[in-house]
Amino acid sequence: MDLNIKNICCIGAGYVGGPTMTMMASKCPDLIFNVVDINEKRIASWNHKDLLELPIFEPGLEELITKTRNRNLFFSSNLKKAIESADIIFISVNTPTKKKGLGAGKSSDLKWVEASAREVAKYARGHTIVVEKSTLPVRTAEVIEKILNSAKRNSKREEISFSVLSNPEFLAEGTAIKDLENPDRVLIGGNNKNAMIALSNIYRVWVPEEKILFTNIWSSELAKLTSNAFLAQRISSINAISAICEVTGADVREVSRAIGKDSRIGSKFLDSGPGFGGSCFKKDILNLVYLAEYFGLTEVANFWESVVKINNWHQKRISEIVVKKLFGTVSNKKLVILGFAFKANTNDTRESAAITICKNLLNEGANLLIHDPKVNASQIKNDLNINPKKSVENSNSSLNEKSGNWEFSKTIHNIELFKDAYAVIILTEWEDFKKLNWTDIAKKMVAPAWVFDSRSIVNIDEVRDAGLSLWRIGDGLEDQ
Ligand code: UDX
Ligand code: ADP
Repeated sequence: MDLNIKNICCIGAGYVGGPTMTMMASKCPDLIFNVVDINEKRIASWNHKDLLELPIFEPGLEELITKTRNRNLFFSSNLKKAIESADIIFISVNTPTKKKGLGAGKSSDLKWVEASAREVAKYARGHTIVVEKSTLPVRTAEVIEKILNSAKRNSKREEISFSVLSNPEFLAEGTAIKDLENPDRVLIGGNNKNAMIALSNIYRVWVPEEKILFTNIWSSELAKLTSNAFLAQRISSINAISAICEVTGADVREVSRAIGKDSRIGSKFLDSGPGFGGSCFKKDILNLVYLAEYFGLTEVANFWESVVKINNWHQKRISEIVVKKLFGTVSNKKLVILGFAFKANTNDTRESAAITICKNLLNEGANLLIHDPKVNASQIKNDLNINPKKSVENSNSSLNEKSGNWEFSKTIHNIELFKDAYAVIILTEWEDFKKLNWTDIAKKMVAPAWVFDSRSIVNIDEVRDAGLSLWRIGDGLEDQ
């Protein structure tokens, strides 16, 4: 078996495939990386001369793209060509939670993975290592293997063969480049030792040997789900504690600091916020729940499902607090929403707490002015499923009279944004929001004006000295 690796293909040019292949291409200049995607618009953005047009925002990505693009990193929609020449194919397509049918609401929709496997089966030549990179339910490798092997049986191309490996990606958005450059570990699951070594040789160029772990394929798949489930569980735990802090007079930041000093607990991932978002946490936990239910492990399923339930409750709790503090109604009141991305340093809004919180406030009749430095208005429109104010006025939309409306501001550096606002609600921890001049802002707002800080980023003295009322997540001594 010739495992001389020269050409790499990655199917899916998204938040995982794009940065991962860019890092590999920068570290391995002798290998060719072809990133392919059926979304031609996305590919055009990856190839755009203006780096501000890249489809995703990730600190450090532009620099690496400049170094590698059209040198040994290529973006295209030509799946056939990229697959034919590939020795290794990474599958990095989207795997959202199924909306209908068997397993709806819990299991992942594998239709994009299946379609990718079929493309691989159709065009692959010689021996091809197929690597699951997307987060997938346990035993997906088996599905991929079945598709590839049946293609092999039906094909007259006797020479084709496949090895399927699991190599989950642990990067977090916003720190993807740092995480890829210096991963805590690289996990490779499989049963073909040669293929596993061939894949590990790519990482070995920059990742220390002891960080590369070999496991069986199911352990690798389950480790990825478990890792995300544990992280999400920490956030639901601290968010649950924040609610207790608020009613008892404790401060969740002090509690986090105190428990984080215990080396068994550790200090990371203990920031109470508006509830976790992102494309992975909820989806992966629900995959675990589905798996547990499938095997009759009801208590296990209930345990993990509660992590998601607390998160949903927590997001709802925050919008309810806003309404209560504003004398029980936000109808026709202008509220400034700062941050729509699910965390800072990304333009991704998938499962962002801002979506639920804004929808709830719109439902209560609020008029929202939304700003995010990296998320654009059309993305917000997709997420809220309602046109912004201007388009609503111009169209004959049958918007429910009682619902509020929203508009978008590209900039935050215009004090008029805050004019006549009853509250400012911080939902994403962008650096810009830490530097706001609250004295100037307060002068524009309607007294008694509120700041709701769900990310603990404002300087509390500056806000209070400006005469604003402040609510912070998990702060039992907040203004009444
Ligand atoms: C996560 C995992 O961290 C990563 O390993 C995996 O590959 C993909 O899923 P990501 O979703 O990109 O990464 O971001 P992450 O930093 O984990 O944050 C997820 C959510 O939790 C965000 O909404 C974030 O704001 C929230 N969070 C995180 C908190 O509320 N508090 C914290 O202390 C940490
Ligand atoms: P992730 O965060 O997991 O990277 P994204 O949604 O950002 O997810 O990216 C997944 C990408 O996979 C999308 O750009 C989508 O167009 C692409 N994709 C989905 N199915 C296929 C397919 N069959 N062939 C090629 N690309 C695909």
